[in-house]
Amino acid sequence: MTTANRRRSLATALVSSLSADGASAERAELPTGPLSPARVVVDLDLPGATISRHLYGHFAEHLGRCIYGGFFVGEDSEIPNTRGIRDDVVAALRALHIPNLRWPGGCFADEYHWKDGIGPREQRPRMVNSHWGDVVEDNSFGTHEFLDLVELLDTEAYVNGNVGSGTVQEMSEWIEYLTRADDSPMAALRRANGRDEPWKVPFFGIGNESWGCGGNMRAEDYAALARQYSTFVRDHAGNQVTRIAAGAADGDLAWTESLMQVFGESLIERPEARPNPFQAISLHHYTVSGPWAEKGNAADFTEGGWYLTLSRAYEIDALLARHSTAMDRYDPYRTVGLVLDEWGTWWDVEPGTNPGFLYQQNTLRDALVASIHFDAFHRHAGRLTMANIAQTVNVLQAMILTDPDTGALVLTPSYHVFAMNVGHHDAAAVPVHLTLPERTASVDGRELPLLSASASVKDGSALISLTNVHATAGRTVELDLRGAELRGHRATVLTSETLQSVNTPETPSAVSPRELSAVRSTPSGLEIDLPPASYVTVQLGLA
Ligand code: AHR
Repeated sequence: MTTANRRRSLATALVSSLSADGASAERAELPTGPLSPARVVVDLDLPGATISRHLYGHFAEHLGRCIYGGFFVGEDSEIPNTRGIRDDVVAALRALHIPNLRWPGGCFADEYHWKDGIGPREQRPRMVNSHWGDVVEDNSFGTHEFLDLVELLDTEAYVNGNVGSGTVQEMSEWIEYLTRADDSPMAALRRANGRDEPWKVPFFGIGNESWGCGGNMRAEDYAALARQYSTFVRDHAGNQVTRIAAGAADGDLAWTESLMQVFGESLIERPEARPNPFQAISLHHYTVSGPWAEKGNAADFTEGGWYLTLSRAYEIDALLARHSTAMDRYDPYRTVGLVLDEWGTWWDVEPGTNPGFLYQQNTLRDALVASIHFDAFHRHAGRLTMANIAQTVNVLQAMILTDPDTGALVLTPSYHVFAMNVGHHDAAAVPVHLTLPERTASVDGRELPLLSASASVKDGSALISLTNVHATAGRTVELDLRGAELRGHRATVLTSETLQSVNTPETPSAVSPRELSAVRSTPSGLEIDLPPASYVTVQLGLA
């Protein structure tokens, strides 16, 4: 079909095949065919909030094959390892500069008793992991193994404590064991278990999803416990802990409000650098594209399923805005952090795998869910202090998948978005103004902008992120770069042959980044051709 014919025939099309992948019968109204150029103005000389590197954080739970088989294979494994921890996984994650790792859960955190996971492995008691497959956990990966992993990764520890079935004393002793330097009882116990120096633990979670798997509590009851437990998570030996209260799911603003009420007027009258008793509140939000019982398969979907999911991904922006606004009322100076410590896509498990292990494939669709989230994170960097993808290996929207039989490892399309965005870590967000020529597309009444963008500046360079949501149409973007002189550019693109392509041990690079040459200089900046269904970053050298 010629371009002209396409233009005539494709003003707007209805993508109505959503029910085919079990998602729902919603309909998407989309322009098709070649899209007119979009204009993107970037104010490079107006640095705003710092995009904390912790917005690129990670989460690893005792769930399915995340810890066992994913990170930890034991010293006797044929898979190359250091003290039982997979070398290839460590190398892949070091390349992402992962800023923090949250552990041991998730729901598992509220039934985990840390003293069962220290000392000689053969003497460690067993327990039942009731949330995830009802399997027996042998506690062979415990506190020392986790902190060893943290050191190998050169990252920071986020330890999640147990409020649901643990005691205040247990939590208090854990932070003492981890971080105290002198001959206190817990420091002495740590030494007896082979570790002399205390570790640094900058982040500590006060329970998890306490409205659900963490104890089915009411908001006001948990708020009281959060206040109490946080008090006993002490700063020992110069280790300063950011205590993170277990926050809301999705749009539960009442839960956030209950936690903010703990601060009363204190943050309005006398804003402190470190609010008490906790310094941050979490939020959990997953991108789910259908009813819970029928979420659809990660890699077997229609074009309609593509658009439905990406329209859901955009919801993160309003969600962050709503929770931030609820927090502003008590904390106008933004001293309490909002921590999205679980996010990502959640599909039906891969056929034939344990339903409790949450193993799913990963395609370009997941990658674009991530790039859209990151653009929103950058916009909310003034309040959002951490975000952790769920989860790093073999669970939900993973960075890495490993083969249970051969141990072979693949990097997922989502991994590559994290890699392409390293330049945003600790950079300053700058304003981006999008002008899209077409009427905003919609999916079941939800708006679906066909282009997402964000930008940041750091150390004499800038990084611009551009996501072309359209499944079949490319788009030229006219970048109007203001406030700085350009000293060169390099563009990278992530796309795939089909929307459903996956990386496998046989085809590990089916979906992987490559250099994008379709970039032209213009009097006001650059002109870039984005392929259909693609994520593009443009690195700029600035004068
Ligand atoms: O990430 C999987 C689970 O999702 C976590 O354990 C829990 O916190 C959430 O419901």
